[in-house]
Amino acid sequence: MEFVGQTRELNGGGRLPVIGLGTAAWNKFEEIKSAVIVALQVGYRHFDTASYYGSEGALGAALMEAFQSGVVKREEVFVTTKLWDDEHDDPLAAISRSLKNLQLEYVDLFLLHWPVRLRKGYSLPPKEEDFLPLDIKSTWRGMETCFEMGLTKAIGLSNFSCKKIEDLFSYAKILPAANQVEMHPMWQQKKLRDYCSKKRIQVCAWSPLGGQNTTWGSSVLMDNPIIQEIAQKHGKTVAQVLLRWGIEQGVCVVTRSFNKGRITENFQIFDWCLTAEDSEKINKLEQRKIVRAEHLVNSTTSPYRTVEELWDGEI
Ligand SMILES: NC(=O)c1ccc[n+]([C@@H]2O[C@H](COP(=O)([O-])OP(=O)(O)OC[C@H]3O[C@@H](n4cnc5c(N)ncnc54)[C@H](OP(=O)(O)O)[C@@H]3O)[C@@H](O)[C@H]2O)c1
Repeated sequence: MEFVGQTRELNGGGRLPVIGLGTAAWNKFEEIKSAVIVALQVGYRHFDTASYYGSEGALGAALMEAFQSGVVKREEVFVTTKLWDDEHDDPLAAISRSLKNLQLEYVDLFLLHWPVRLRKGYSLPPKEEDFLPLDIKSTWRGMETCFEMGLTKAIGLSNFSCKKIEDLFSYAKILPAANQVEMHPMWQQKKLRDYCSKKRIQVCAWSPLGGQNTTWGSSVLMDNPIIQEIAQKHGKTVAQVLLRWGIEQGVCVVTRSFNKGRITENFQIFDWCLTAEDSEKINKLEQRKIVRAEHLVNSTTSPYRTVEELWDGEI
């Protein structure tokens, strides 16, 4: 099958499709599996999962079915998974579990999910005793080993500020290919995007629609009158305007829907564009990060005493 859609080149090789299907949802095996099968038919080639989501099994089952029926070949899809906060001690064991769940021999991108290390057996929100001292240098070394062993085609970061990336550059042997962060018109991340672009790190936007109806998200973007007006003018939906804005900024987006109509709608963003006037209006929107991650901050055991410290002032 022909590769549908556009991609962006990663610094160590490989190409990340500009739009991917997110799978952050718990205990929804059948919904996720069906959504992935629909998304493959629609043309999606990037699938974003994480050990934390528990969605690797459903994604793997859908992909296996698609490979066996010849819908798509392994090398035509891009799979991202992530190292969770309680897996920092042993990235090799973690990626091996993920690959088993996914029924794959390698993933395309393995991300360090958060710059936070928690003890095994913690529950969210983490309590004081759940935080362990952070050692990103050694965790990154473990992720480099996963890359060297061919278990992932690239390694990268998620929820990392410019400062944290700069620190990593002082010791990394293999440079991060991507940084997956919250990004949408109300959290545009200009400073981080400029920095990542200079370092040849591909930014990938999570919650590009604001993550409405999730426990972490909000409907502020879908309800925004300026975005609604732009959508109406183009005869597009608010979701399409939000996703189109993301890809016009040079980032890749991962958005989640388990609804056939919305999975299809979200992919119809390639044959039209926003005007300079639309972009100007969007650039002026009030900036407000939706996921501040206050639960990762405390005054005793967390490496971060405040949210400003967690995001290195980029909040
Ligand atoms: N790295 C990280 O720390 C991190 C954090 C959060 C998320 N992520 C990744 O990013 C992915 C996307 O982020 P997200 O799930 O937070 O949020 P999102 O994609 O911004 O929004 C998802 C929500 O919007 C709805 N939706 C999707 N398309 C729609 C449309 N066309 N019209 C109206 N509603 C629509 C979905 O519901 P329906 O299913 O009913 O359509 C769902 O409730 C996640 O699934 C995950 O893979 C990564």
